[in-house]
Amino acid sequence: MSDPVPVITIDGPSGSGKGTVSSRVAEALGGWHFLDSGALYRLTGLAVEKAGIGFEDPQKAAEIAANLDVRFEQGKVLLGGEDVTLAIRTEQAGNRASKVAAMPEVRAALLDWQRQAVRPPGLVADGRDMGTTVFPDAPLKVFLTASAEERAKRRYKQLKEKGIASNIGELAEEIRQRDERDRNRSASPLVPAADALVIDSTGMTIEAVVEKILQAAHKVLPAG
Ligand code: C5P
Repeated sequence: MSDPVPVITIDGPSGSGKGTVSSRVAEALGGWHFLDSGALYRLTGLAVEKAGIGFEDPQKAAEIAANLDVRFEQGKVLLGGEDVTLAIRTEQAGNRASKVAAMPEVRAALLDWQRQAVRPPGLVADGRDMGTTVFPDAPLKVFLTASAEERAKRRYKQLKEKGIASNIGELAEEIRQRDERDRNRSASPLVPAADALVIDSTGMTIEAVVEKILQAAHKVLPAG
């Protein structure tokens, strides 16, 4: 029997740098695939909003999640044929995402979708529950965090680079509320897996974080 396709999970709160770090780790490992699971929750939130059903109906939201008409094309994200690349990156989209993410029905509907992302040579999965729920057998689980202040600053810079205006004070408050909702929900709350390597990236460069993860990866992954 062939060896299972390896998975590295990188979980943590918003603004911890997971997205950037995960895609760099995937690249450094020689073109591993990268799963941005947050995008699926952001897309579901947007689709629920567009359907006009409100955020009180988990069954309908789960139906929407299971039937998302999404395409990832040339760096763009299309929802029902419409370019939503920027629309899913706003803080409002993040808030909607965390509302649908608190619904166990939605999480269940997105589970298969996420597991199908496992393809050779390997997958780096970025999210909140990658190590605890979606890929509990991953050989390397990372939990990336940083101080709330630093995360708000990073988010501000990231949004600015995308041409999205924001206010750092409001951003810090939104991040705080979103993290609180993510940590305290009953379905797959944001917590490090028991066997996770916890990295506090406050004051660390992206390169240093990536290096630390690669070192850990080389210890657990089969050579070759
Ligand atoms: O990572 P990102 O900021 O794009 O995630 C948006 C929201 O989606 C998070 O605040 C969280 O509520 C939800 N999410 C989740 N589980 C994941 C990924 C994201 O609950 N695996």
